[in-house]
Amino acid sequence: MRELSLHILDIVENSIEAGATRVEILVNEDSRANRLTIVVEDNGRGMDAETLKRVGDPFFTTRKTRHVGLGIPLFKAAAQRCAGDLIVSSEPGKGTKVVAEFQRDHIDRAPLGDIKSTLLGLILSCEQCDIRYEQRLDGRAFVLDTRELRDILGQVPLSHPQVRDWLEEYIEEGLAELRQAPSATQEQNSSDF
Ligand SMILES: Nc1ncnc2c1ncn2[C@@H]1O[C@H](COP(=O)(O)OP(=O)(O)OP(=O)(O)O)[C@@H](O)[C@H]1O
Ligand SMILES: [Mg+2]
Repeated sequence: MRELSLHILDIVENSIEAGATRVEILVNEDSRANRLTIVVEDNGRGMDAETLKRVGDPFFTTRKTRHVGLGIPLFKAAAQRCAGDLIVSSEPGKGTKVVAEFQRDHIDRAPLGDIKSTLLGLILSCEQCDIRYEQRLDGRAFVLDTRELRDILGQVPLSHPQVRDWLEEYIEEGLAELRQAPSATQEQNSSDF
Protein backbone atom coordinates (compact mmCIF):
# COMPACT_ATOMS: atom_id res chain seq x y z
CA MET A 1 0.00 0.00 0.00
CA ARG A 2 1.52 3.27 -1.14
CA GLU A 3 1.27 6.33 1.09
CA LEU A 4 -1.01 8.99 -0.35
CA SER A 5 1.77 11.59 0.01
CA LEU A 6 3.76 9.67 -2.62
CA HIS A 7 0.82 9.83 -5.03
CA ILE A 8 0.58 13.57 -4.36
CA LEU A 9 4.30 13.88 -5.12
CA ASP A 10 3.79 12.10 -8.48
CA ILE A 11 0.88 14.30 -9.47
CA VAL A 12 2.65 17.54 -8.53
CA GLU A 13 5.75 16.38 -10.44
CA ASN A 14 3.51 16.09 -13.52
CA SER A 15 2.46 19.70 -12.93
CA ILE A 16 6.05 20.89 -12.63
CA GLU A 17 6.99 18.96 -15.79
CA ALA A 18 4.08 20.68 -17.53
CA GLY A 19 5.68 24.05 -16.73
CA ALA A 20 3.31 25.10 -13.97
CA THR A 21 4.29 28.19 -11.98
CA ARG A 22 1.55 27.62 -9.43
CA VAL A 23 0.25 24.38 -7.96
CA GLU A 24 -2.58 24.22 -5.43
CA ILE A 25 -2.99 21.08 -3.35
CA LEU A 26 -6.01 20.40 -1.15
CA VAL A 27 -6.38 17.41 1.15
CA ASN A 28 -9.85 17.41 2.63
CA GLU A 29 -10.94 14.92 5.28
CA ASP A 30 -14.59 14.86 6.24
CA SER A 31 -15.25 12.31 8.97
CA ARG A 32 -19.01 12.72 8.94
CA ALA A 33 -19.25 12.07 5.19
CA ASN A 34 -16.47 9.48 5.57
CA ARG A 35 -14.64 10.90 2.53
CA LEU A 36 -11.07 11.92 1.90
CA THR A 37 -10.54 14.07 -1.18
CA ILE A 38 -7.27 15.15 -2.74
CA VAL A 39 -7.23 17.91 -5.35
CA VAL A 40 -4.15 19.06 -7.30
CA GLU A 41 -4.65 22.00 -9.60
CA ASP A 42 -1.97 23.62 -11.77
CA ASN A 43 -1.54 26.37 -14.33
CA GLY A 44 0.74 24.31 -16.58
CA ARG A 45 0.39 23.69 -20.29
CA GLY A 46 -2.63 21.44 -19.90
CA MET A 47 -3.69 18.60 -22.18
CA ASP A 48 -5.70 18.39 -25.36
CA ALA A 49 -8.78 16.15 -25.52
CA GLU A 50 -6.87 13.23 -27.06
CA THR A 51 -4.17 13.23 -24.36
CA LEU A 52 -6.77 13.63 -21.64
CA LYS A 53 -8.72 10.62 -22.91
CA ARG A 54 -5.64 8.42 -22.66
CA VAL A 55 -4.29 9.68 -19.38
CA GLY A 56 -5.71 6.85 -17.24
CA ASP A 57 -4.04 4.29 -19.52
CA PRO A 58 -0.74 2.97 -18.08
CA PHE A 59 0.79 2.62 -21.53
CA PHE A 60 0.31 6.26 -22.33
CA THR A 61 3.09 8.72 -21.63
CA THR A 62 4.66 11.70 -23.34
CA ARG A 63 7.94 11.09 -21.54
CA LYS A 64 10.80 9.98 -23.74
CA THR A 65 12.82 8.00 -21.22
CA ARG A 66 10.47 5.02 -20.93
CA HIS A 67 7.26 3.77 -22.38
CA VAL A 68 4.88 3.61 -19.49
CA GLY A 69 3.44 6.42 -17.43
CA LEU A 70 2.17 5.19 -14.10
CA GLY A 71 1.61 8.25 -11.95
CA ILE A 72 -2.06 8.78 -12.75
CA PRO A 73 -3.10 5.11 -13.29
CA LEU A 74 -1.64 4.05 -9.92
CA PHE A 75 -3.38 6.86 -8.06
CA LYS A 76 -6.65 6.11 -9.87
CA ALA A 77 -6.42 2.41 -8.98
CA ALA A 78 -5.80 3.29 -5.32
CA ALA A 79 -8.91 5.51 -5.25
CA GLN A 80 -11.08 2.94 -7.01
CA ARG A 81 -10.02 0.26 -4.53
CA CYS A 82 -11.44 2.49 -1.78
CA ALA A 83 -14.94 3.12 -3.16
CA GLY A 84 -13.70 6.28 -4.83
CA ASP A 85 -12.35 7.48 -8.14
CA LEU A 86 -9.94 9.86 -9.81
CA ILE A 87 -11.00 12.42 -12.38
CA VAL A 88 -8.67 14.56 -14.50
CA SER A 89 -9.87 17.70 -16.20
CA SER A 90 -7.63 19.91 -18.29
CA GLU A 91 -7.60 22.74 -20.75
CA PRO A 92 -4.67 23.33 -23.11
CA GLY A 93 -2.81 26.51 -22.21
CA LYS A 94 -4.76 26.91 -18.96
CA GLY A 95 -3.94 24.01 -16.65
CA THR A 96 -4.94 20.71 -15.18
CA LYS A 97 -6.99 19.55 -12.21
CA VAL A 98 -6.78 16.10 -10.67
CA VAL A 99 -9.43 15.10 -8.11
CA ALA A 100 -9.06 11.81 -6.22
CA GLU A 101 -11.68 10.63 -3.76
CA PHE A 102 -11.52 7.86 -1.18
CA GLN A 103 -13.81 6.30 1.40
CA ARG A 104 -11.92 7.61 4.44
CA ASP A 105 -12.20 4.52 6.65
CA HIS A 106 -11.82 1.97 3.85
CA ILE A 107 -9.59 -0.94 4.91
CA ASP A 108 -7.41 -0.46 1.81
CA ARG A 109 -7.06 3.29 2.22
CA ALA A 110 -3.37 4.10 2.62
CA PRO A 111 -2.33 6.60 5.27
CA LEU A 112 -1.51 10.13 4.19
CA GLY A 113 2.12 9.46 5.02
CA ASP A 114 4.95 11.93 5.25
CA ILE A 115 3.34 15.13 3.96
CA LYS A 116 6.09 17.25 5.53
CA SER A 117 8.92 15.65 3.54
CA THR A 118 6.84 15.60 0.38
CA LEU A 119 6.09 19.31 0.66
CA LEU A 120 9.64 20.28 1.59
CA GLY A 121 11.03 18.25 -1.30
CA LEU A 122 8.65 19.86 -3.76
CA ILE A 123 9.15 23.39 -2.46
CA LEU A 124 12.94 23.12 -2.48
CA SER A 125 13.14 21.37 -5.86
CA CYS A 126 11.16 24.02 -7.68
CA GLU A 127 12.31 27.54 -6.86
CA GLN A 128 10.33 29.07 -9.76
CA CYS A 129 7.07 27.34 -8.84
CA ASP A 130 4.69 28.44 -6.10
CA ILE A 131 2.92 25.81 -4.07
CA ARG A 132 -0.17 26.28 -1.96
CA TYR A 133 -0.99 23.39 0.36
CA GLU A 134 -4.20 23.21 2.33
CA GLN A 135 -5.20 20.35 4.57
CA ARG A 136 -8.69 20.36 6.05
CA LEU A 137 -10.11 18.14 8.73
CA ASP A 138 -13.81 18.57 9.47
CA GLY A 139 -13.74 22.25 8.63
CA ARG A 140 -10.48 23.20 10.37
CA ALA A 141 -7.52 23.93 8.12
CA PHE A 142 -3.75 24.16 7.82
CA VAL A 143 -2.49 26.31 4.94
CA LEU A 144 0.98 26.91 3.55
CA ASP A 145 1.50 29.19 0.54
CA THR A 146 5.01 29.77 -0.77
CA ARG A 147 3.85 32.89 -2.61
CA GLU A 148 3.02 34.56 0.70
CA LEU A 149 6.31 33.37 2.17
CA ARG A 150 8.27 34.78 -0.78
CA ASP A 151 6.55 38.14 -0.33
CA ILE A 152 7.69 38.22 3.29
CA LEU A 153 11.18 36.86 2.61
CA GLY A 154 12.05 39.21 -0.26
CA GLN A 155 15.50 38.26 -1.56
CA VAL A 156 16.01 35.42 0.92
CA PRO A 157 15.45 32.10 -0.89
CA LEU A 158 13.18 29.37 0.49
CA SER A 159 16.21 27.09 0.47
CA HIS A 160 18.06 29.25 3.03
CA PRO A 161 18.92 26.88 5.93
CA GLN A 162 17.07 28.98 8.50
CA VAL A 163 13.99 29.31 6.31
CA ARG A 164 14.09 25.59 5.66
CA ASP A 165 14.21 24.83 9.40
CA TRP A 166 11.36 27.23 10.02
CA LEU A 167 9.30 25.64 7.23
CA GLU A 168 9.88 22.19 8.64
CA GLU A 169 8.70 23.26 12.09
CA TYR A 170 5.76 25.23 10.72
CA ILE A 171 4.46 22.23 8.76
CA GLU A 172 5.07 19.81 11.62
CA GLU A 173 3.27 21.98 14.19
CA GLY A 174 0.45 22.95 11.83
CA LEU A 175 -0.36 19.35 10.96
CA ALA A 176 -0.05 18.17 14.58
CA GLU A 177 -2.50 20.87 15.66
CA LEU A 178 -4.92 19.83 12.95
CA ARG A 179 -4.84 16.21 14.10
CA GLN A 180 -5.61 17.17 17.71
CA ALA A 181 -9.20 16.69 18.82
CA PRO A 182 -11.37 19.78 18.39
CA SER A 183 -11.91 21.89 21.50
CA ALA A 184 -14.50 20.92 24.11
CA THR A 185 -16.98 23.55 22.89
CA GLN A 186 -16.89 22.22 19.36
CA GLU A 187 -17.47 18.70 20.64
CA GLN A 188 -20.39 19.96 22.68
CA ASN A 189 -21.93 21.55 19.60
CA SER A 190 -21.52 18.53 17.39
CA SER A 191 -23.10 16.20 19.98
CA ASP A 192 -26.28 18.31 19.85
CA PHE A 193 -27.23 16.65 16.55
N1 LIG B 1 -0.55 18.20 -14.86
C1 LIG B 1 -0.35 17.82 -16.11
N2 LIG B 1 -0.25 18.75 -17.12
C2 LIG B 1 -0.04 18.37 -18.40
N3 LIG B 1 0.07 17.07 -18.81
C3 LIG B 1 -0.01 16.12 -17.87
C4 LIG B 1 -0.24 16.43 -16.47
N4 LIG B 1 -0.29 15.26 -15.79
C5 LIG B 1 -0.11 14.29 -16.67
N5 LIG B 1 0.06 14.77 -17.93
C6 LIG B 1 0.26 13.98 -19.16
O1 LIG B 1 -0.18 12.66 -18.91
C7 LIG B 1 0.88 11.72 -19.12
C8 LIG B 1 0.75 10.58 -18.13
O2 LIG B 1 1.02 11.02 -16.79
P1 LIG B 1 1.47 9.96 -15.70
O3 LIG B 1 1.83 10.67 -14.46
O4 LIG B 1 0.43 8.91 -15.60
O5 LIG B 1 2.75 9.29 -16.35
P2 LIG B 1 4.16 9.99 -16.66
O6 LIG B 1 4.30 11.26 -15.91
O7 LIG B 1 4.27 10.07 -18.14
O8 LIG B 1 5.17 8.91 -16.11
P3 LIG B 1 5.46 8.59 -14.53
O9 LIG B 1 4.43 9.33 -13.72
O10 LIG B 1 5.32 7.11 -14.41
O11 LIG B 1 6.83 9.09 -14.28
C9 LIG B 1 2.15 12.55 -18.98
O12 LIG B 1 3.20 11.96 -19.74
C10 LIG B 1 1.73 13.90 -19.56
O13 LIG B 1 1.75 13.90 -20.97
MG1 LIG C 1 3.82 11.34 -13.81
